[in-house]
Amino acid sequence: MKLAGVLVCLLFWTVREGEARPPCNYPPAQWCSSPEIATACQVEHQCMEYQRKKDADPVMISLYYESLCGACRGFLVLQLFPTWLTLNDIMNVTLVPYGNALERNESGKWVFSCQHGEQECTGNMIECLQIYEPLLPWDNIENCVNGDLGNKLMHHNAELTRALNPPHEYVPWILVNGKHTEDLEDEAMNSLFNLICNTYSGVKPKACAKPKGLNSFPKCMI
Ligand SMILES: *[C@@H]1O[C@H](CO)[C@@H](O)[C@H](O)[C@H]1NC(C)=O
Ligand SMILES: *[C@@H]1O[C@H](CO)[C@@H](O)[C@H](O)[C@H]1NC(C)=O
Repeated sequence: MKLAGVLVCLLFWTVREGEARPPCNYPPAQWCSSPEIATACQVEHQCMEYQRKKDADPVMISLYYESLCGACRGFLVLQLFPTWLTLNDIMNVTLVPYGNALERNESGKWVFSCQHGEQECTGNMIECLQIYEPLLPWDNIENCVNGDLGNKLMHHNAELTRALNPPHEYVPWILVNGKHTEDLEDEAMNSLFNLICNTYSGVKPKACAKPKGLNSFPKCMI
């Protein structure tokens, strides 16, 4: 009996809530002009995204790394990728695979040697091609790894890595809005998610209300 009463009340309340929504008698140009209109026109979420984009620049994350360094893989898989899935609206990621590699000019062609051997150079090359030429089919990637394009792009990554100021001392070497400090690096390694949420100066996305902590891996020293 009591339950039926509750249900009736609930139903009544739901119907009233339905009626309570004012009609959307506004042209689209005005939909984000106030929270009430956004609610009436059922575009609250879209307006929040729009506002966020207008508000502030995304947080720039630059990752200097190498393909076979355990800490780099850990950071990519456990921090960067999951954080990017949730916060891609407020972050902008630059990946520079090269890390502690070295290069030398052998009669006009760059020859690379990598900290974790030949396999790592190949890994870096594949990742560097997938970043710069994401639509390249796999067969072409294989040809390209040994060709001029791969060679040029990897040399570009070598230059970007050498241009770091201060120079990198280990990988992964993380820049937040172009800046590297030990504190930023530690925060990024512990929870990139929290770091992005805390650094972003615009209206925070809802996901930022739940901080996330994660583990870290030993870094790869030069
Ligand atoms: C991300 O940063 C790069 C480099 O500064 C810039 O060219 C690009 O437009 C930015 N992308 C977004 C979505 O902000
Ligand atoms: C690389 O070596 C070739 C010839 O060995 C030379 O012509 C070229 O200028 C060198 N490039 C750089 C950037 O040092």
